[in-house]
Amino acid sequence: MNLQTPYLGLTLRNPVVVGASPFCDDIDAAMRLEEAGAAALVMHSLFEEQIDLEEAALHHHLETPAESNYEATSYFPRYDEYNLTPSGYLRTLERLKSSLTIPVIASINGRRPGGWVDYARRLESAGADALELNTYQLATDPAFSGEDIEGDIVEILRNVTASVRIPVSVKLSPFHASLSHFAKLLDENGAAGLVLFNRFYQPDFDIDEMEVVPRLKLSFSSELLLRLRWLSILSPKLNGSLACSGGVHTPEDLIKSILGGAHAVQLVSVLLETGPRAISVMLEGLRDWMKEHGHEDLSTMRGALNLKRCPNPAAHERANYIKILQSWKI
Ligand SMILES: Cc1cc2nc3c(=O)[nH]c(=O)nc-3n(C[C@H](O)[C@H](O)[C@H](O)COP(=O)(O)O)c2cc1C
Repeated sequence: MNLQTPYLGLTLRNPVVVGASPFCDDIDAAMRLEEAGAAALVMHSLFEEQIDLEEAALHHHLETPAESNYEATSYFPRYDEYNLTPSGYLRTLERLKSSLTIPVIASINGRRPGGWVDYARRLESAGADALELNTYQLATDPAFSGEDIEGDIVEILRNVTASVRIPVSVKLSPFHASLSHFAKLLDENGAAGLVLFNRFYQPDFDIDEMEVVPRLKLSFSSELLLRLRWLSILSPKLNGSLACSGGVHTPEDLIKSILGGAHAVQLVSVLLETGPRAISVMLEGLRDWMKEHGHEDLSTMRGALNLKRCPNPAAHERANYIKILQSWKI
């Protein structure tokens, strides 16, 4: 049985990828994930702000005379104090590349087109097999329209793809007025694939301390439904690959994602909760299901329940919304 899958122009040995997360910072953990069957690993994101800060500090380091008063400029982090940021990221990438045999995908996050985009070239030189653009941003300023934000993302994508030869994917938020339109725009502007979706971390209120508190909650399988819907809608329309990120916890979740049209799934929460074994369990479950349903490889099952191929396409669309609401009886 062949579990190979095309993803961003690469050939992965199976569809299970470690999603962007701190796993990349621990080489031993990354090696254990590879041993358990992971087919690729996405590094956590390097942020535009980190790149700008390092460039500013480097500039400061080169421009400031040695005798100048450090106290006066101590609001600047010292360059040697935060090698853990962009340069540290490059070193981690190099270490991962020399320890793993699976593809390593670097992740970069920026809000506006700018000089930080050049960093993509350095990630490519350090050995990244592909690049994931994480477009997580919270649009709080009413001065920016959805069109402005989407325009910036497309411009960033075009600048990045123009500066590297490796494939570039875009990790999207589900919150776009017309996701199909935007996804197609990204597909036409050089995205080798899309990752559906980013998860937004929502702060909570502590009503005793009267504070806003950050909360990082891991996902549940129930979050998969949003991904299944959009995989099903987008997979017949795009040329690039699709990865499902969010709520993949069980072999059934993996199978459903592929049936929706995913070339790969990205796992984070389940690996943080149960460790590398989750990958072997998922692959075993996938093999069993394929055997039972007569699939020799993934090409025959990928997209079998998407909007174009499923026996009842209305189930994905507005008609189903009306039917579901009217089916509830008090
Ligand atoms: C601790 C942690 C760190 C993460 N860091 C990043 C990151 O740096 N960049 C990114 O694009 N996504 C990041 N994510 C989001 C995950 O890559 C993934 O999209 C999300 O957790 C949904 O997948 P899951 O349901 O398998 O957890 C992070 C998630 C967690 C839990």
